[in-house]
Amino acid sequence: MRRRYALLLAGAAVLLASTAYTDPAPTGAVALGRQLFFYPILSGDRTISCASCHKESLAFADTAVLSAGVAGRHGRRNTPSAMNMRSQVAFFWDGRAATLEEQALVPIANPLEMDLPVAAAVARLNQSPLYRAAFQRVFGEAPTGRMLANALAEFERSLQTSESPFDDWRLNDNEAAVSASAKRGFALFNGKAGCARCHFGADFNNAELRNIGLYDGQMLLDSGRAAITHQASDLGKFKIGALRNIALTPPYMHNGLFQTLRQVIDYYNDPDQVVPHARNRDPFLAQPLGLTEREKTDLESFLRALTDKRFLPGKPATSTSSNTRSRRQAANGMPLRPSHRVTARLPRAHC
Ligand code: HEC
Ligand code: HEC
Repeated sequence: MRRRYALLLAGAAVLLASTAYTDPAPTGAVALGRQLFFYPILSGDRTISCASCHKESLAFADTAVLSAGVAGRHGRRNTPSAMNMRSQVAFFWDGRAATLEEQALVPIANPLEMDLPVAAAVARLNQSPLYRAAFQRVFGEAPTGRMLANALAEFERSLQTSESPFDDWRLNDNEAAVSASAKRGFALFNGKAGCARCHFGADFNNAELRNIGLYDGQMLLDSGRAAITHQASDLGKFKIGALRNIALTPPYMHNGLFQTLRQVIDYYNDPDQVVPHARNRDPFLAQPLGLTEREKTDLESFLRALTDKRFLPGKPATSTSSNTRSRRQAANGMPLRPSHRVTARLPRAHC
């Protein structure tokens, strides 16, 4: 009885802590997924939840270079945001999961993260009268791995952000929403700096995996996509990082190499200065960009204008709904290139 009471209290605390993200028309699966995302029942020693690494106040990412899992263990990659997943077509930095459902079960079983075999997690949920009842209510059956994955994925799909100053400027023609510097930065992003050659679409990422030069086979040893496909042409390729709320999610890149947006921009401006012996770097990044200091500041202002209002002090967003088409229009104001699905076979590897 005491345990049930504690669970109820913890569940209530979780719901209170996360009401800012309530879906406008929450389905039962979203609410259940939210509870599972925040509550540590899914980790071996009941100390770690998804939200331990995907922190709500940090756009569901983490500011640690490597987040700590069960017993302080660390993986080898930086925690990406779990927001704006709806239009993404592959998950993890190397794109090895094809669906959010497939992704969701991986960290639970990963010994470096939550360290609980999925079958054991499902058994735990079945032992809990509250979770049994919740799954029954939402899915019409007792907890299963498939339903667990579905609830977590539905919650993540509800975490869309589309109310940044940038959207206000582009969609509502509110010229005062962003600074002149951010407007110049957007022009640079699409023009001289060439960022939009890779970062385009609603969330400024597109579906491709590319190599920006952070693999050199000496100091930087994560070969990215190639570890999955065993193709030399995939060496150093990673998912193109989505840029919404990017100001909140340092450090940057799969390995958390850059602490600030300025360091990211300095890198792109002249990659050889930072990683002189990169292997297989993308031809788009063959030449230095020649950005002036003011242009770098402008690009950074633009990136900062992508922070959703709910994360800005004193400016809670009115709604969490989003219209993907209008997000896309805001993003580029130019034709969308067709997205390419990641077609290679995706083994169920660990994080
Ligand atoms: C110990 C920290 C940690 C925990 C706990 C954790 N994650 Fe993650 N998550 C990561 C890291 C690190 C990555 C990137 C791993 C990689 O790409 O190899 C990641 C990747 C993801 C992605 C892919 C995002 C993208 O852009 O492709 C999603 C979605 C996600 N996690 C959701 C979850 C869910 C759901 C849970 C709970 C069931 C969870 N995570 C638990 C650290 C964590
Ligand atoms: C050749 C394609 C390409 C170009 C051009 C490009 N990027 Fe990227 N971007 C990527 C890829 C791929 C990643 C992830 C790389 C990694 O982790 O190794 C990334 C990651 C990022 C990240 C970090 C995302 C995160 O969550 O950590 C930021 C910020 C960023 N890019 C901004 C820019 C800016 C600004 C420009 C223009 C100056 C630019 N990018 C040009 C492909 C590109």
